[in-house]
Amino acid sequence: MKRILTGDRPTGKLHLGHYVGSLKNRIELQDKFEVFLLVADLHALTTNTDTSEIKQNIKDLVLDQLSVGIDHEKVTFCVQSGIPEDQELAVILSMFVSKSRIERIPTLKDILRDLKIDKPSLGLLSYPILQAADILMVNANLVPVGKDQASHIELTREIAEKFNATYEKVFEIPESLIPKDIGVLPGIDGKAKMSKSLNNAIFLSDDTRTVEQKVMKMYTDPKRIHPTDPGNVEGNPVFIYLDAFASDSDKSLVTSYKEKYKKGEVGDVEVKKFLIKILNEFLDPFRKNRAQLEKEEGLVEKILEEGTKKARNEASETLKKVKMVMNLI
Ligand code: TRP
Repeated sequence: MKRILTGDRPTGKLHLGHYVGSLKNRIELQDKFEVFLLVADLHALTTNTDTSEIKQNIKDLVLDQLSVGIDHEKVTFCVQSGIPEDQELAVILSMFVSKSRIERIPTLKDILRDLKIDKPSLGLLSYPILQAADILMVNANLVPVGKDQASHIELTREIAEKFNATYEKVFEIPESLIPKDIGVLPGIDGKAKMSKSLNNAIFLSDDTRTVEQKVMKMYTDPKRIHPTDPGNVEGNPVFIYLDAFASDSDKSLVTSYKEKYKKGEVGDVEVKKFLIKILNEFLDPFRKNRAQLEKEEGLVEKILEEGTKKARNEASETLKKVKMVMNLI
């Protein structure tokens, strides 16, 4: 069976954008592949060394994934900082990457710009090398990531190829798995991307009232002043969300709301009320699951401990081979 590894930095609760962009895909992949889900806590440090909330963030990351239906009996949840072999491998792999190659990686420039960092740490620069080690330590064949991460997978392939050619074949050459039909979900403010740091997210664990408040202040068609004005459906986040989250049985209602909106036969408030209902119906089962999971004392800790042990065994085997072909101790 082909093996998958993917990961997330534990930076807070997951939102609808995560659901559309990755979680939905993971729910399907878990039945077809052997899946490792890495909690990349060391990667989280690359842009924020304040670790006061990291334990809670790790817990939220796992709970959110479990509550949408990712099954810890099918996938292996593991924590990066609990796998020292990952870091040792990263040191070795870093010798196969030139400084200029690292500086050319486009995500680095994006992060520096978005987070207004003028002096990146060495850790941030070497981020993609640690990511390569994450992937290669378990010899993953496929890496599901967003488009923005494709350059990191490309680097991983280069490193693996160089290593195999220099010594012996130790590494599988991984491929990225970039979902084709997944658009990026816009934020409630209409900005291109839903993101916690942009403060425009609806979280999977938001309660009904919070969802209601967020939807009521959602950005719609700015040119529309009266409910009788013909409105724009295209690029309107309210309709993008309706398309993404309405159940099959509600799809025909969505279509009719679109028609009415375009003709100026329905007001924004009515459509928003419909969206609130749709979102709450969508989120309700996740909320119930989460409440149940939260009651189980020590559950997340146990899942992470077992999964990390399993990943560590794999990493240790890989590292042993790496050092053997390199004549290292
Ligand atoms: N860099 C990824 C992100 O920011 C997270 C990540 C860390 C990852 N290690 C990984 C993704 C290994 C895929 C494989 O989204």
